[in-house]
Amino acid sequence: MYNRFMQQQNRFINELFRIVNGALRLDIDKVRNYTSFLADKLEKEGDKTSAVRLRKLLEETDHQLRPAEVSLARALPVDSESRFPLIEHVNLRAMKEPPVVLLQEQWDVLNEFLSIAKSYAQLDAEGIGGSVSLLMYGPPGTGKSRVARYIASELELELYVARLDGLISSFLGSTSKNIRALFDFAAKTPCVLFLDEFDAIAKLRSDTQEMGELKRVVNSFIQNLDSLGPQSIILAATNHEGLLDSAVWRRFSYRLELGYPTTPLRAQMWSQFLNPIDFNERDLELLVDLSEGFTGSDIQEVCRRLNRRRITTQEDPTLKDAFQILQNIGIGEGEERRFLSALKGKDSQTIARVLRDRNTKLYSHAALAQLFGVSKATAYRRTLKGGKLDGR
Ligand SMILES: Nc1ncnc2c1ncn2[C@@H]1O[C@H](COP(=O)(O)OP(=O)(O)OP(=O)(O)O)[C@@H](O)[C@H]1O
Ligand SMILES: [Mg+2]
Repeated sequence: MYNRFMQQQNRFINELFRIVNGALRLDIDKVRNYTSFLADKLEKEGDKTSAVRLRKLLEETDHQLRPAEVSLARALPVDSESRFPLIEHVNLRAMKEPPVVLLQEQWDVLNEFLSIAKSYAQLDAEGIGGSVSLLMYGPPGTGKSRVARYIASELELELYVARLDGLISSFLGSTSKNIRALFDFAAKTPCVLFLDEFDAIAKLRSDTQEMGELKRVVNSFIQNLDSLGPQSIILAATNHEGLLDSAVWRRFSYRLELGYPTTPLRAQMWSQFLNPIDFNERDLELLVDLSEGFTGSDIQEVCRRLNRRRITTQEDPTLKDAFQILQNIGIGEGEERRFLSALKGKDSQTIARVLRDRNTKLYSHAALAQLFGVSKATAYRRTLKGGKLDGR
């Protein structure tokens, strides 16, 4: 009982420290942001009265320090030249997403990161400096942004995304200013800051003539990262990890590599993403095999289209529908990874033969009949004797 009481107290003590810290440094934004965060937290834990009192205090004092209409949203940092916002708030509450699907070793990294992020108060107290940071890398569509949203919602913090390519100004001097504005914001706001397209900062190195200036930009980035305390949760994502400077790379205490989903992962994705569409075990097995080389994003897209069709036609989609969408999605970037892409434009009989050569047991005549939407007898006859399966 006493322990629980202490734990609850501790939860608020973290915010209290932030507020005192902000007050002593005359950082009014930090004080206000964390007070408002504390009010939300108190309300969530059942102390509505204190929450209302705190919010009232915030309201009453707002006009004394700045115009009343300046809200947190409007206080987002902006590019020093164009005045465009450097970061964007992600409304997690408006999103309903299927679960994150990862390999066990990826979950191990992610869970350890989350538990460290949750215990930042102890890190603070023990004087262990540096931000709690995670670098995610891997090809497009493998779940980096999805994991960022997962982390923010697990930590019950707001998520802000900064696209680094937008932050790099044509005037390098402004880039440094932008970086400072970004980190200032992170220091005074209870949030997860997600630096997307992180390689933009590294790519600069080869793109520009002004090497000296550029070094300063990268250095200012590193210094800013180092000066943050453990209360700041920084995530970064890149498709080109090879471009990252080793000094920058080293700054991230946790690294998560995301890749093309393995067979068991694809099986999990299909069964979770299809919901509420219900395919049987054998159908799922076919989809898992047909989607070899597809990303999580591709599978999610097939499921989204099937669900859309289910709603508009009021009928459960068939395996044939799924197969057609898969063939469509298989066109374009990354064709070499997907055996399905090599069958593009081929007639149905050739496709059926390739599938049977691939796995006779899985691609039985009954399965082919369903994939092409013909009778089993037709599938049997035509794969053996020729003629197109779909009768075209
Ligand atoms: N491992 C995964 N678990 C759950 N969902 C996934 C996974 N991978 C991809 N997705 C789905 O695909 C969508 C697109 O993935 P996401 O935007 O996270 O990719 P990304 O790695 O950030 O790609 P990019 O490099 O193009 O930004 C996600 O919204 C999610 O629905
Ligand atoms: Mg992304």
